[in-house]
Amino acid sequence: MGILITALISLVFLMSGYGFIELKLLKVKRYEISDTSVPDSLKGKRIALLSDLHCIYHGKNNIRLFRMLKAEKPDYIVLSGDVINGVERSELRYAFRLFRRLKRLNVPVFYTFGNHEEKLKDNDIRAYRRLKRYARKHLHLLNNRAYRLEDNSEVAFVGLSLPLWMYHGHDGNGLIKRRTDRILDRSDTRDCYKILVVHDPEHMDKYAESGYNLCLSGHVHGGIVYLPILGGLISPRLQIFNKKAKGYHECGKMKTVISGGIGWHDIPIRLFNHPEVVMISFR
Ligand SMILES: [Fe+2]
Repeated sequence: MGILITALISLVFLMSGYGFIELKLLKVKRYEISDTSVPDSLKGKRIALLSDLHCIYHGKNNIRLFRMLKAEKPDYIVLSGDVINGVERSELRYAFRLFRRLKRLNVPVFYTFGNHEEKLKDNDIRAYRRLKRYARKHLHLLNNRAYRLEDNSEVAFVGLSLPLWMYHGHDGNGLIKRRTDRILDRSDTRDCYKILVVHDPEHMDKYAESGYNLCLSGHVHGGIVYLPILGGLISPRLQIFNKKAKGYHECGKMKTVISGGIGWHDIPIRLFNHPEVVMISFR
């Protein structure tokens, strides 16, 4: 019995140690979207999806992240929220540096706020407004806006930023459909191939009902510990073994790619769930 307990304790220590190391093992994860609804003009293009950075650096000034992006040469970059933690004004330095460096890559960058950017609104409204201004100056900030591509009018990136109360299990009473209709009508993008950039994948069925073709999101961090078949161990809504903690999923006609995230907060561990730059290519 004593040997068994010692072995168990050693295993927990070993796994925690590895979980700490894995936080730094940034890798590229690839997905391919092959679908009859993909316009020919989008085939061969590639999107880099970055999510949940939470002010984390991979190497000095995120050198590993940027080396990866330069090597991958994406046509578009999507930031699906939680660049910061939303606690202190000093976090803006991280965000501003990231925006400037992304801009220098000379590809369109589309950014939608996550729950942690929304938290900043409650903690420091002036910092929140500065973040918005700086993001608009350097990137395409898509908080409830759409952007029809200049070089490809058949494709639009649409960003939905959700209110904080919708991150706690509320389905919004039709808010997603109403908001989507307003955005699409205002931007005249209803007939486009619509790529939704939204932080929380939880409302996947509502996004699909609203007519999006592809949904790019994050938020769940792969469940911190990711076990094949079972899924992510923990989710922000405290579901155990969430199968939609990351990866590729289909919901009706809509395809979804959920990033496992680049950073972390609160629990500094990732197990079988390395931080990832997600590359999506179209066929
Ligand atoms: Fe989040």
